[in-house]
Amino acid sequence: MIEIKKLNKAFGEKVILKDISVDIKEGELFSVIGPSGMGKSTFIKCLIRLLKPESGQIIVDGQDIGSTSNEFTLAKVRRSFGYLFQEGALFDSLTVMENVAFGLKYLTDIPKSDYPRLVKEKLALVGLKDVEHLKPSELSVGMKKRVSLARSVAAEPKYMLYDEPTTGLDPVTTGMVKDLILDMREKLKITSIVVTHDLNLALEISSRVAMLNNGEFVEVSEPDKFRQSENKGVKEFMEISHLSRTANGEKGCK
Ligand SMILES: Nc1ncnc2c1ncn2[C@@H]1O[C@H](COP(=O)(O)OP(=O)(O)OP(=O)(O)O)[C@@H](O)[C@H]1O
Ligand SMILES: [Mg+2]
Repeated sequence: MIEIKKLNKAFGEKVILKDISVDIKEGELFSVIGPSGMGKSTFIKCLIRLLKPESGQIIVDGQDIGSTSNEFTLAKVRRSFGYLFQEGALFDSLTVMENVAFGLKYLTDIPKSDYPRLVKEKLALVGLKDVEHLKPSELSVGMKKRVSLARSVAAEPKYMLYDEPTTGLDPVTTGMVKDLILDMREKLKITSIVVTHDLNLALEISSRVAMLNNGEFVEVSEPDKFRQSENKGVKEFMEISHLSRTANGEKGCK
């Protein structure tokens, strides 16, 4: 379980997160949505202390990493997280096998002789086979996403963080990534936190959706309740999302 209490983050004078408090329970698929530049990425970067908050607690399985400088504690907590970066961030000079094994090498004590088997297992999980010898340049965008995801879950993290997992993808690949996120949760029982500006994605896959606006979570609720929100920021965001969806030719909601 992740307990966030009164989390504050600023860059210089610019306050990004103001007193954010929320609990993310085991098995949840928790999405954070909001307009560009509001601090969604900042929020998840704080969760694994890629960024240090000004104040507040981030308690991961009972361990508060909000302000600690203890590298041992940080490393231990970070090992329970997988992180799917927006751009995938595969190493171009490494093969798919080496890319996926990277997570095992740095995050586990698993013997090297087990890597090929485990890498193949994770690639199968994301629907890929016989690609171990290829380099990222030889993969399609969708395949790169799958390999990135295989790498992120290679060490079987307890928590997965997804930063804009579908941004810039075509509708087919978006659907595929959506299914993969749901699969990871189901098959590996991973608690997931998804940061996205894709409201429709968030409403479709999440157990709860939080809307970040001007540094605060102005609404945190289950998708059905979220749709009924009376919050002005949420209503505007829903309106804009609907308009851009219609403009893209994807009419109507399920
Ligand atoms: N390392 C940094 N130093 C200074 N300012 C930063 C830093 N990282 C982010 N910011 C600023 O903090 C604000 C929030 O950025 P963040 O990337 O978290 O937004 P976001 O909601 O993820 O946006 P997007 O939807 O475009 O990804 C932005 O104004 C950004 O310019
Ligand atoms: Mg971002």
